[in-house]
Amino acid sequence: MNILLTGGAGYIGSHTAVALSEAGHEVVLLDNFCNSQKSVLDRLERILGEVLPCVEGDVRDTVLVTRILQDYKIDAVIHFAGLKAVGESFQKPIDYFDNNVSGTVNLLRAMRVSNIKTLIFSSSATIYGVPQYLPIDERHPTKAINPYGRSKLHIEEILADVAASDPSLCIVSLRYFNPVGAHETGLIGEDPGGTPNNLMPYISQVALGKLLCLNVYGNDYDTPDGTGVRDYIHVMDLADGHLATLNFTERNSGLHTYNLGTGKGNSVLEMVKAFEDASGKTIPINIKARRAGDVAACYARVDKANFDLNWKATRNLQKICTSILNFQKHS
Ligand code: NAD
Ligand code: UFG
Repeated sequence: MNILLTGGAGYIGSHTAVALSEAGHEVVLLDNFCNSQKSVLDRLERILGEVLPCVEGDVRDTVLVTRILQDYKIDAVIHFAGLKAVGESFQKPIDYFDNNVSGTVNLLRAMRVSNIKTLIFSSSATIYGVPQYLPIDERHPTKAINPYGRSKLHIEEILADVAASDPSLCIVSLRYFNPVGAHETGLIGEDPGGTPNNLMPYISQVALGKLLCLNVYGNDYDTPDGTGVRDYIHVMDLADGHLATLNFTERNSGLHTYNLGTGKGNSVLEMVKAFEDASGKTIPINIKARRAGDVAACYARVDKANFDLNWKATRNLQKICTSILNFQKHS
């Protein structure tokens, strides 16, 4: 199939581009590079041995998106493009709603004009808000607690209305838990600019000596060791999840929602230990107060994705940490 990946030069998009391309799909990328580097394209070429077509532009540009859909005879779209920093979304809510919500509406319009029926959307576990029970299944109530999360929730609601208006559409929202790790070649991975907000990029910079120590935000949560628990999923498992979803869309229509996680929670201290084991380095830690907006624990129930998509995350914490170390060598 011919697949358009909006935000395809980004962290999850680039890894998914590899998985789809290796499975024989023709992949086209659209990215405005507001949060990615053009060097990713050379890296993708080194991994795949071929150049992936990439259009530089904005998903909010309906004319451009329509042209890409038609010129490349696109069969399905995976919509990664968007802004994703929770903290920043409080400072710049308009940017978040414009980029994420308006971007999706524009994409839907271009798809309708071009008669394209299949959309896979990057949603987030953040839309569940504070977990009412664990593990979180797809029926868990949604209640976003920050503007970023609300933008994702608004989009899911829009997608439900659009799917209901045309039974021939197939729209799948994938709610990612905590994507981490890098491609096994070490050529692509997560490369946040500045000081990382997220745990694994922060730990890896401490290991490199770029940061002195990891601040652990809270050790008094109601979790086995008191630190926050999350469902860390290897980004290549996530990429394979998109491939499985694409296969699913070939046999199904309607609106579908899946959690993509491992189903298992790990604490901050467990992640530190896994990284220390993989790297042979000590990660100094400093216990700090809880971070505003954090929940104690968040991990997925993944039976629905396992069953319907015939997909399961298979890569363990050791694989996650060694892939990050390998990516560091190539950065
Ligand atoms: P990323 O920032 O690495 O990738 C997003 C890409 O989209 C970037 O390359 C950026 O330049 C591009 N982009 C942003 N706005 C655009 C626009 N208007 N037009 C064209 N390109 C645009 O982020 P990621 O981690 O790869 O996340 C991909 C998607 O998954 C996002 O929608 C994000 O909200 C969602 N998600 C990510 C996580 C996570 O922890 N990484 C968790 C849950 C959901
Ligand atoms: N943490 C630290 N120190 C740090 C960074 C994080 O102790 O320097 C802790 C946090 O308190 C939390 C855990 O590590 O307990 C994970 O934090 P992350 O920032 O890596 O991830 P979050 O679960 O807070 O959020 C991420 C994304 C969100 C997304 C969510 C669910 O940043 O955008 O996963 O997918 F919504």
